Amino acid sequence: MKVLLIGGGGREHALGWKIAQSPEMSKLFVAPGNPGLNHIGETLTIPENDTKGLVSFSKDNNVDLVIVGPEAPLAAGLGDALREAGIACFGPDKAAARLESSKSFMKEVCAAAGAPTAAYGRFTAPAAAKAFLREQTAPYVIKADGLAAGKGVVIAETLNDADTAIDEMLAGQFGEASAAIVIEEFMTGEEASFFAITDGVTILPMIAARDHKRAYDGDQGPNTGGMGAYSPAPIFTDAVYERTMRDIIEPVVAEMARRGAPYVGVLYAGLMIDNERPRLVEFNARFGDPECQIMMRRLNSDLLPVLHAAACGKLEGQRFDWSDNAAALVVMAAQGYPGGYEKGSTIHGVDAANNLPGVVVFHAGTRDQDGALVANGGRVLNITATGAHLREAIDRAYRGIDAIDWPQGFCRGDIGGTAL
Ligand code: AMP
Ligand code: GLY
Repeated sequence: MKVLLIGGGGREHALGWKIAQSPEMSKLFVAPGNPGLNHIGETLTIPENDTKGLVSFSKDNNVDLVIVGPEAPLAAGLGDALREAGIACFGPDKAAARLESSKSFMKEVCAAAGAPTAAYGRFTAPAAAKAFLREQTAPYVIKADGLAAGKGVVIAETLNDADTAIDEMLAGQFGEASAAIVIEEFMTGEEASFFAITDGVTILPMIAARDHKRAYDGDQGPNTGGMGAYSPAPIFTDAVYERTMRDIIEPVVAEMARRGAPYVGVLYAGLMIDNERPRLVEFNARFGDPECQIMMRRLNSDLLPVLHAAACGKLEGQRFDWSDNAAALVVMAAQGYPGGYEKGSTIHGVDAANNLPGVVVFHAGTRDQDGALVANGGRVLNITATGAHLREAIDRAYRGIDAIDWPQGFCRGDIGGTAL
C-alpha cells in the first residue's frame, strides 16, 4: 500500500513510526514531515493547505491511502477533494469535520443525538451574550465558535473578565472564528481523551489517554496543546467507557450519518468525568497530540489495515490488540512556549534517549540544519516510554528527558502525577 501522511508534528511522527512497521506498507510519503519522519518516509514539499497539489500528487503517484493528521486541511475540504478524485482518505469531509471546526454545530448535533454536554448559548452580538452571561454562575466559559488553534477558550472567574472576553472575541480577536461565540455551563470533574475510529457506520473503539494541558507543574500557567500524557487513565473505568460509547460516540456517529454527513476517520471526544458520568467538552476530527503518540506505543496490532478499512467503508470485522503495558509521554518545549520563544538552538542526546529501555523519542518542532538537530517550534520533542505499569513508564520517560541536552528547553516534572 502506498500511503501519504499529512502533517509534521509528534502525532504524525508516531503515526509514521507505527505504519512503517506494517507489512502492508510499500511506500510512505510525508508532507511536510519533520526530521523524525524524514528517516521513515519520503518528504514532499507540498504544504498541507495545498489541497490541489496534494490531490494531484496522490493521483499521479497512485497513492492508496491519505492519512490526514491535523484539523486545518480537513476543515478546508481535503477529505472531500481526495474522495472526489477517487482516493481513499482517513479523515472526515468538511461537513463532518464541523464537529471540531464549529462548537455550535457540535452542540446542535449533541442535542439531536441526546449526548450529554454543557448547556450553552450561541451569540453574535455582545449585548445578548452579556445578558445571557448574567443568568449563569461563575466561572464563565466563553469560546470562539470556530477553529482558533486551541486558544479560543476563556474561563473567566469574574463578570468583568467574561465581558472583556466577549468584547474581544466578537470584535474579531480570532477573525472569522470568533464572529460567533458560545457561552457554556462550567463542568466539574476530571478530563480524559477517548478515541474511536469509524467508517461512518461501524465504530471501532480505541483507548483513553490523559492529557496535561497547562504549561507548568501543578496545572499552573496557560493552556497549551498538551505537555504530556499517559495511558491507561484510571479515571476511564469500564462504566465510563460503556457510557461514552452508548451515550456519546454511537448516537453522534448515527446522527451524522442521518444528516448525510457520515463521519469517516477518528473521532476524538474530550470528556469531563464526574462520578463516572462522562460529558462531552469537545470533539476533534483528528487524533490528539500528544495522546496519539501514547496510543501508538500501546497498540500491538497493525494500524494501517484499520485506517484503510475505515477510509473504504469496510471497518466491520477489524480489531485492535492493545498492550497491557502503560505508556507515558513528556513534552520538551522551547522556553517561553506557549507564548513567544526562540528557534534555532541545538539539541543533543536524542539517540542516547532512544537507546534507553522502553524509550522512543518522537520529533515535533525540530529541523535539520547542516546535520545538526535544532529547535523549530514550541513543542519540540516528545519523550515516550512504555513500562509494566504507569510508575515504570513515567520513570523511564523522565530518564529519557535526562538524556536530552537542550538548555533552551523545558518540561513539566509532574506528568502522570494525577494517576499515581
Ligand atoms: P476546549 O478547547 O473546548 O477543549 O477547551 C479547552 C479546555 O477548557 C478544556 O480542556 C477544559 O479544560 C476547559 N473547558 C472547556 N469547556 C469547559 C466547560 N464547559 N467546563 C469546564 N471546563 C471547560
Ligand atoms: N492534546 C489536545 C489536542 O490534541 O487537542
